[in-house]
Amino acid sequence: ITTTDPRFLADLTQQILADPLPKHIISVSAFKKPHLHQILNLAHQYRLCKIKKQPLNHILEGKVMAMMFYEASTRTTSSFSVAMQLLGGIVQKCDPDTSSLVKGETLSDTVNVMASYADVMVIRHQEKGAIQKAIVNTHTPVISAGDGTGEHPTQALLDVFTIREEIGTVNSLTITMVGDLKNGRTVHSLAKLLTLYRVRELRYVSVPSLSMPPEIKNFVKSRGIKQEEYTSLESALPDTDVLYMTRVQKERFSSEEEYIKTRSAFEVTPKLMTKAKKKMIVMHPLPRVCEISPDFDTDPRAAYFRQTEYGMFVRMALLTLVLGHSL
Ligand code: CP
Repeated sequence: ITTTDPRFLADLTQQILADPLPKHIISVSAFKKPHLHQILNLAHQYRLCKIKKQPLNHILEGKVMAMMFYEASTRTTSSFSVAMQLLGGIVQKCDPDTSSLVKGETLSDTVNVMASYADVMVIRHQEKGAIQKAIVNTHTPVISAGDGTGEHPTQALLDVFTIREEIGTVNSLTITMVGDLKNGRTVHSLAKLLTLYRVRELRYVSVPSLSMPPEIKNFVKSRGIKQEEYTSLESALPDTDVLYMTRVQKERFSSEEEYIKTRSAFEVTPKLMTKAKKKMIVMHPLPRVCEISPDFDTDPRAAYFRQTEYGMFVRMALLTLVLGHSL
């Protein structure tokens, strides 16, 4: 990257040599704290370049990123694509509707084929664990863009980056996750990743049928982080530093009736937010349906659209590090 302090680049190079990132980015469980330092500090440099309108070197020139999205996406697909192109790389999309998937080609075969064209592959799939299974014989690095109700590791990275950029630290915060905690892969990854920090408490607000899965709670417990479950947002809100709203995931329900019963259980409104701290942020991985009133969008605490931009810087950093380009 251009115009960056040479000492920053030298330090980062040392950190990469000491703690290289996992080859594939599938679950946040593979991350150690030094990995987060590398990714988030580099993402911050990319953000500064944008703020100062400094040009970027095309350090990924000649590199190819293949994108295979078997589920709908706006932010993840767009931010990965823009990130790669801003750094001079090439993006090749393999769209399931027009690819040989419609002729019955398996995910594993498609991965092996695309690997022969690409230096990195970004894959989203509707089935939990499907990406992990499909890449067992793949040498090309793979980044998961979300696997069903499983994980969304790059979303968790950008969520932690958002907290750092907006509040300055992740330590000592009370972070409250709200909504569909059962099916929402973003909260699964985020809860796990936050255990690398000294957060004060994680709070989970949901209706009983959509509570945080035991496997995630057990993981968080094993790392010694305090957790509390609520069914009332009003009760969890007053000393919350980060309110992380999520959509009830209609596509994961077998019955429309069950979805309709739960989709509007919690809503952020200007009135509700009079009970929250003046200095806190509201996040959402988006898309939202009815869990944050648009009337709240102009409140300075509404961080969710800034969060989408932070995602681009994090994906620029991740692609730089995964492609192992010499800094
Ligand atoms: N947050 C997120 O994953 O958004 P998309 O589904 O639009 O990519």
